[in-house]
Amino acid sequence: MSILVTGGTGFIGSHTVVELLENNEDVVVVDNFVNSSPDVIDKIKQITGKDFSFYEVDILDREKLEKVFEENSIDSVIHFAGLKAVGESVQKPLEYYHNNITGTLVLLETMRKYNCKEIVFSSSATVYGNPGVDKYAESLGRGKTTNPYGTTKAMIEKILEDLYTSDNSWKICMLRYFNPIGAHKSGLIGDNPNGIPNNLMPYIQKVAVGELKELSVFGNDYNTVDGTGVRDYIHVVDLANGHIKALSKLKTYNPGVYVYNLGSGKGCSVLELIKTFEKVNNVKVPYKIAPRRPGDIDVVCADPTKAKEELNWCTQKTIEDMCKDSWNYIKNVSLIKNN
Ligand code: NAD
Ligand code: UFG
Repeated sequence: MSILVTGGTGFIGSHTVVELLENNEDVVVVDNFVNSSPDVIDKIKQITGKDFSFYEVDILDREKLEKVFEENSIDSVIHFAGLKAVGESVQKPLEYYHNNITGTLVLLETMRKYNCKEIVFSSSATVYGNPGVDKYAESLGRGKTTNPYGTTKAMIEKILEDLYTSDNSWKICMLRYFNPIGAHKSGLIGDNPNGIPNNLMPYIQKVAVGELKELSVFGNDYNTVDGTGVRDYIHVVDLANGHIKALSKLKTYNPGVYVYNLGSGKGCSVLELIKTFEKVNNVKVPYKIAPRRPGDIDVVCADPTKAKEELNWCTQKTIEDMCKDSWNYIKNVSLIKNN
């Protein structure tokens, strides 16, 4: 039996595929490379010394997706495929709703057709909206999302709940990620978005490596330790392992819908992240204070108790590890580019 990983050449997907292969799982990956590149496939094989099936498939393409189920015996799916840029989703809402929601519907219909009823879904802390508490627990429920990207996540969660209500033989696990950063220790895979990055760590990486002049710190008048935004950063390898734990637990669970936060429970400010990156890597990250970014809030931090208690999962890696691994990865990328 195989695990299908959609979006498996992306940032979180590729790290999860590595962990699955290292756990001796049979893995089938689909991706359309809209935000990743084919060379990740070889990198994963290089890291693990293991093989897996890959299909270049857009999950919107029902025929091709069915072929994947036809040719493999898939008993569970980890569903990463989706568009994820918050700002872009405001400019292109129809594209985001179509790709993320229709893509998920096609996937779920295909799963149902092949009697595969076990799914782990990449949700996000963004579904909490702005609940105004220090730590977000799952019991808060979904709040008001502030952009089409976040709305797709909230809508897919609701679709999954409704699906279970209609057919309670499904096993559904929704994982709400906080802020994934870092990279595999090999330096072979990581997060390197095309163009100007939207997110903090990819931006820091490009400034540190000299590709961008300076970082803009969006606001220093928040109600936080030093006035800059606080987030709960999680190492992508810890996050990947959260999927392994969730999937193996799901196998033992009764059918149902399960939701877990994947975060560390510790907040880190923008300035703290910059300082740590500079210190552990002995590099400079020039920055300036800029106005607040619309839609940002002071603090986003997980209450990770439920994942600890029920999945026996918690983060292992520190902010220092995340900064070291991100730097190791981007130095490699830059070396390859300049040779
Ligand atoms: P990513 O963009 O690196 O990976 C997503 C992958 O899905 C890419 O390889 C892309 O090519 C592929 N993809 C997109 N649409 C597709 C389609 N229609 N058919 C086939 N493949 C398709 O993003 P990531 O950071 O690895 O995120 C993975 C998932 O986790 C996404 O659903 C994202 O929304 C969610 N998530 C990410 C974060 C974050 O900060 N990175 C936070 C919360 C949730
Ligand atoms: N920031 C800067 N400068 C930058 C980029 C970001 O100061 O150039 C600040 C932001 O203002 C914020 C912090 O760094 O305070 C983190 O910002 P990111 O853009 O890295 O991450 P967000 O918390 O805004 O959002 C991320 C993902 C979302 C996901 C959310 C989950 O982009 O998709 O985490 O909490 F939903």
